[in-house]
Amino acid sequence: MGYLKPCSVFLLLVFFVACVSGEDPYRFYTWNVTYGDIYPFGIQQQGILINGQFPGPQIESVTNDNVIINVFNSLDEPFLISWNGVLQRRNSWQDGVYGTNCPIPPGQNFTYALQVKNQIGSYFYFPSLALHKAAGGYGGLSVASRPMIPVPFDPPSGDFTILAGDWYQKSHTELRAILDNGNNLPFPDGIIINGHGSNPITFTVDQGKTYQFRISNVGLTTSINFRIQGHKMKLVEVEGTHTLQNIYDSIDIHLGQSYSVLVTADQPPQDYYIVVSTRFTSKVLTVVSILHYRNSEGTVSGPFPLGPTIDTEWPIEQVRSIRGNLTASGPRPNPQGTYKYGMINTTRTITLQNSAPIINGKQRYAINSVSFIPSDTPLKLGDYFKIQGLFSLGSISDNPTGGDGYLQTSVMAADYRAYVEIVFHNPEDTLQSWHIDGHFFFVVGMDIGQWSPASRLSYNLIDAISRCTVQVYPKSWTALYMPLDNVGMWNVRSENWARQYLGQQFYLRVYSSANSWRDEYPIPLNALHCGKSNNKYMETSSMN
Ligand SMILES: *[C@@H]1O[C@H](CO)[C@@H](O)[C@H](O)[C@H]1NC(C)=O
Ligand SMILES: *[C@@H]1O[C@H](CO)[C@@H](O)[C@H](O)[C@H]1NC(C)=O
Ligand SMILES: *[C@@H]1O[C@H](CO)[C@@H](O)[C@H](O)[C@H]1NC(C)=O
Ligand SMILES: *[C@@H]1O[C@H](CO)[C@@H](O)[C@H](O)[C@H]1NC(C)=O
Repeated sequence: MGYLKPCSVFLLLVFFVACVSGEDPYRFYTWNVTYGDIYPFGIQQQGILINGQFPGPQIESVTNDNVIINVFNSLDEPFLISWNGVLQRRNSWQDGVYGTNCPIPPGQNFTYALQVKNQIGSYFYFPSLALHKAAGGYGGLSVASRPMIPVPFDPPSGDFTILAGDWYQKSHTELRAILDNGNNLPFPDGIIINGHGSNPITFTVDQGKTYQFRISNVGLTTSINFRIQGHKMKLVEVEGTHTLQNIYDSIDIHLGQSYSVLVTADQPPQDYYIVVSTRFTSKVLTVVSILHYRNSEGTVSGPFPLGPTIDTEWPIEQVRSIRGNLTASGPRPNPQGTYKYGMINTTRTITLQNSAPIINGKQRYAINSVSFIPSDTPLKLGDYFKIQGLFSLGSISDNPTGGDGYLQTSVMAADYRAYVEIVFHNPEDTLQSWHIDGHFFFVVGMDIGQWSPASRLSYNLIDAISRCTVQVYPKSWTALYMPLDNVGMWNVRSENWARQYLGQQFYLRVYSSANSWRDEYPIPLNALHCGKSNNKYMETSSMN
C-alpha cells in the first residue's frame, strides 16, 4: 500500500472524481476476497477472508485521506463491502450496499474510492450482501486526527481493535436458507473476539502504560457488554465524537456500534480476563480474551468480572452519561461545541416504528409497515439513468401507518440541507439498533414508553453525541436531530442482520435540484452495471 500526495495522471483518469478534493493524501489497498477455513470454536468452518485474513486487514487513515481499495471477488457469489460510519460525502456511489452499487460478480473486481472527509473515529467495514457477514469478511477502520488538530488525550502507547459479536456454527448459506424460508435466526452459538471463540486471543501491554481499545459490535443479532477484569475504562470517543472522559467498569455495545476507550495497565503484573457477554438475552453467552502484562507473574485467575448481562433494564445512567465534550476538537480545529445543533429549528419530523409482520406466511420485518424488497437494479443507478418503475418516492410514510405489513421497494424523499427530527419508536420487547448511512446524527433523547411532542422537553440540546448507529430499548423511543448534509441515496437499516435481511431497511433519497458537483459527484467511470442499468449505460455511452 503506497502513500502519495498529488493525483497522478492515471488517477485523474480513473478516479477523477475523488481527485477534485485536491491535495489530500492517498492510501491504496488491493484486497482478494476468498473462502477459507476458520476455527472460531475449534471446529472447521468456511469463512470469508480478505487477503487470507479473518478479520480482514485494518484500515488506518487520517482525516481527509483518500482510501482506494481494489476488491477482487474470488467467491462464487456476488459480493459488496460497505463502510459503517465512513461518510462518503457527495458520493453514495461508493457506499457498497445493494441500493447504491451493483454487486461485484464472482471473478471480477471493483475499486472503491472513499474519502474520510472531515471525520475522525473508530469504525468497521463489513460485507453487505446475502448474509456474508455471518461468514466474516469484516475488519476495523480508524480515522486519526490530522497532526495539527488537538486530540483531548495523550497519545496512547498502543492501539487495539476489538471486533466482537455473536457467531453461528452454521454457514452463511444455511443461515440464509432459514431466513429465506420465513424464519428468524436461532440463538447464536457463541461470541467471538477478532475471530476467536474457544481459543482466547492475547493483548500484550506494558505495566504503567495506557492503551486505546476500539471496540465494535460486528455480530448479527445481539447486544454485547465489554469489560476488563480489575481495570477501569476511560471512554474517549464514540463514532467520531470525542466524549466526556467518564470512567466505566463495563460498556454496552449494541449491534453496529463502536466505542473507543483508554485502559491503563495499572494493576499488579499478571494476566486479566477481557470479557464480552451478550446483553438483553435470557441465556447469556460469554467469551474471554487475555490482557497480558509483559512482566506478568501469573496467568488469569478468579471469576470473570460480572457485567449487567441478565438485567434487561436499560442502563439509563450509562446512556445519559455518554455525552460530547464541547471544548474538545473533532476533525476540525474548532471545538465540537461550535456546531449548535440544538439551536437549529427542525423542518420535518419522521417517526419510524419497527414491526415483525408475517407476510405471505413468512416472517418479515418492517418499518412503518413496509418490508423492503430490493429492485433488480440498484436504486442509485436507477435514479441516475432515470429508469422508470424501480421505486416510487414516498413509498414509505413519515409516520407509522398502523396497517398490516406489506412488501415494497421503499424510498423516502428528502431535501438536501433540511434539518430533520427522527423518532424511532420500538413497540416490541426486543432491543433495536439502527444505522443511517452517509450521515451522523445527534442523539437528543431516549426514554421508556411512547414518544409524544412533550418528550421534546427532555431533549439534550447541549452536548448529545453525534454518531451513526443508535439503540432503541424495548418498548421505548429514541430521538435524533440530523442535518441532511449529504446528497445521495442512503440506506437506513436495522443492524440486526436477520431483520435487515428480511426487510427492515429503506433508502433515504437526499436530493438537490442543483445538479452540481458541489452537491454530488457524478457516477464514477469504473461503476459496475447490472440489471436495467446495463442498457442505459450502453445507450448513454454510444450517445457520447
Ligand atoms: C485470490 O486468491 C485466490 C486463492 O488463493 C487465487 O487463486 C487468486 O488468483 C487470487 N486473486 C487475485 C486477484 O489475487
Ligand atoms: C480491476 O483491477 C484492475 C487492476 O488489476 C484495475 O485496472 C481496474 O480498474 C479494476 N476494475 C474496477 C472496476 O475497478
Ligand atoms: C474536554 O476536552 C478538553 C480539551 O481537550 C479537555 O481539556 C477536558 O479535560 C475535556 N473534559 C472532559 C470532561 O473530558
Ligand atoms: C426557530 O423557530 C422559532 C419559533 O418559530 C423562531 O422564533 C426562531 O427565530 C427560529 N430560529 C431559527 C434559528 O431559525
